[in-house]
Parts: sequence; structure tokens; C-alpha cells
Amino acid sequence: MKKYMANVHMSRITMVLLPAILFMMVMMGWGFGLLTNIEEEPYISEEDNLIVVGVSQLGSESGWRTANTESVQKAFTKQNGYFLIFNNARQKQENQIKAIRNFIAQRVDYIVLAPVVESGWETVLQEAKDAGIPVIMMDRSVDVADQSLYTALVGTDSVEEGRKAGRWLEEYLAKKGKSDEDINIVVLKGTEGASAQIGRTVGFSVVAGEHDNWNILEQEYADFTIYKGKEVMSEFLEKYDDIDVVVSQNDDMTFGAIEAIRESGKTVGVNGEITIISFDAVHDALEMVAEGTINVDIECNPHQGEYISDVIRLLESGQEVEKRYYVEEDIFTMENVTQDIINGRDY
Ligand code: AHR
Repeated sequence: MKKYMANVHMSRITMVLLPAILFMMVMMGWGFGLLTNIEEEPYISEEDNLIVVGVSQLGSESGWRTANTESVQKAFTKQNGYFLIFNNARQKQENQIKAIRNFIAQRVDYIVLAPVVESGWETVLQEAKDAGIPVIMMDRSVDVADQSLYTALVGTDSVEEGRKAGRWLEEYLAKKGKSDEDINIVVLKGTEGASAQIGRTVGFSVVAGEHDNWNILEQEYADFTIYKGKEVMSEFLEKYDDIDVVVSQNDDMTFGAIEAIRESGKTVGVNGEITIISFDAVHDALEMVAEGTINVDIECNPHQGEYISDVIRLLESGQEVEKRYYVEEDIFTMENVTQDIINGRDY
């Protein structure tokens, strides 16, 4: 009986205490979890001594852009002394502004911005400046009156790229003895408002303006994408049956445009009816240059991460940096593109 009572007593104790014990264990566990969270939550520990870089990439519209993103991810690794916070804005400026505000709130050490368009950055750049965070432009530039709103730009000289395209066409026509013939040109432009598009348009127009016989039939935005390149080129082909030259401001649009031209029954390239001028010089485009499908490809170099890292290192050691750093870029035609160059393209 005593034994029974003891059992009853025990089970009463168990019934009353067990939930309390369990509750306490849960609370302790939760508390412990919270504590461990507090230790783990900060994305970077002080001892790591890493430089925190927030990168706002504008999107992933082209093969070139993918390579540009990879170059950033390769440069800003823990092994190289960085902690990278990467954001893909999917072609929307408002997403980039949100990302930058987020970086400021997280008190990153540097912000890298590849701006989708040129204008509309003053407010958010001022916020970064007020927070004491240097902003480095990647690839494209911004149009701001106050140049102190960003520290440096590492990118490409898009006006020069456009000019190179124009100068190449001049020489090409001269070699063919066609300098005085009427030349009908259509231009597939990149994203509206993007500095790469604006610069290439301006650079090419400057050279075109020197030739009364170059008729720019039409210029249309095609967003730097294959799909849009094909769509806009198809529209051009429906409107004009006498196109001599296509200036396509990136390789992706060129791939789409060539598809549209072939589907219309026309031919392209060195031995074709329509001369193709492209920009970027990605691997697949260079193969097309080698086989004569694309006449010329004006290189745009996406490997910018390493250069940006160099600029950050200079700033870290208290040194002055230049306002603009342009990456090296070439011009590729059938004459100078080699299998080694093509094989060496990792994008
Ligand atoms: O800003 C660089 C341009 O953007 C590249 O030419 C193009 O491919 C990319 O989308």
C-alpha cells in the first residue's frame, strides 16, 4: 500500500512537475538558442576582420552580365578578405535603391553599384555619403551634378566603344570601295536610360554624323536581350528591305537579330547582305566572328571585380584613387580573332 501510495505520490509529482520541468527546459533551450543566435546572428565576426562589401547588380539580362557577376563573386571572397552581400535588382532601379538602403542599414564598409539607368541616384547616394560609406560604380555610370556622391568608377568607356564601331565601319567601307555609296543602318539599342546604351549611341552617332551617305533608318531599344533583339529586328525587316548594316549594342541582341534576319531569308556577315556590328565579344559571338557571321565585335570587358578590389585596397590604405578606371578592351574581326582567344573566353 505504502508502495502504492509512493507510486501515486510519485506520479502526482511527475504530473505536476513534469510540465513545469519541460517548460523550463524549453525556455532554457529557447534562451540558449537566443544566446547562440545573438552570437551567430551578426553576419561577420570581428575577428574575421573582413571588409564588408554590398554589391547591387542591375540584373542578369545577358551572358556578359553573368560574367560580370561572377567576376565580383570571385573577387570578394573570404579568402581575399571580404564579406560579400550581393543583390540582383532584376532590372529595376527601385530594387537597387532598396538594396543600397539595406546596405547602409547594415553598415557595410563599401557599396558597389552597377546602375541600371544613369539618372535618379542623387538621394540614395547622398544617404550613403552621409553614412560615410564610399560608393564605387561598376560597369555603368551615373549622371549626377555632384561628383562627390561616388568615390570612383570601374567600368567601360561606352562612348569610345560606339566611336570604335563607327571608325571600323568607315575603314571597312573604304576597303570595299563603298565609302561614297548610300549605306542604310539600323541600330538595336540597349536598355533605355542605361549609360552603356547612351554612350554607344552617342559614340556611333558622332562618326555617322561625319558621313552624309550613312542613313540611320531607325534606332530602337531592345533591352540588351536575345528575345527583344529578335523582336525589334523582325520589325525593322518588315519595314525596310534595304538594310545594309545592323549596329547591335550587345551580343545577346545580335544573336536574336541574326535569327530574325535568317528567318527573313537574308544573309549576314562577311559574305552576306547585311553587315553585323556587335558589342561585348563573348565566347559564342567570337566563334561567329571567326566564321564570318558577325563582321566585328567591339569588346566590353566584364572582368571588373578584381579592379574594384584594387581600388578598395587603395582606399583601405588611405591612398587617393582616380575618379574613373576603364578596363582594357579590344576590337575583334575575322582577321585577328584566334582559336586561343576564343578558348580563353570564360564567358
Ligand atoms: O553595361 C554593359 C552592357 O550591359 C553589356 O554590353 C551588355 O551585354 C550588358 O547587358
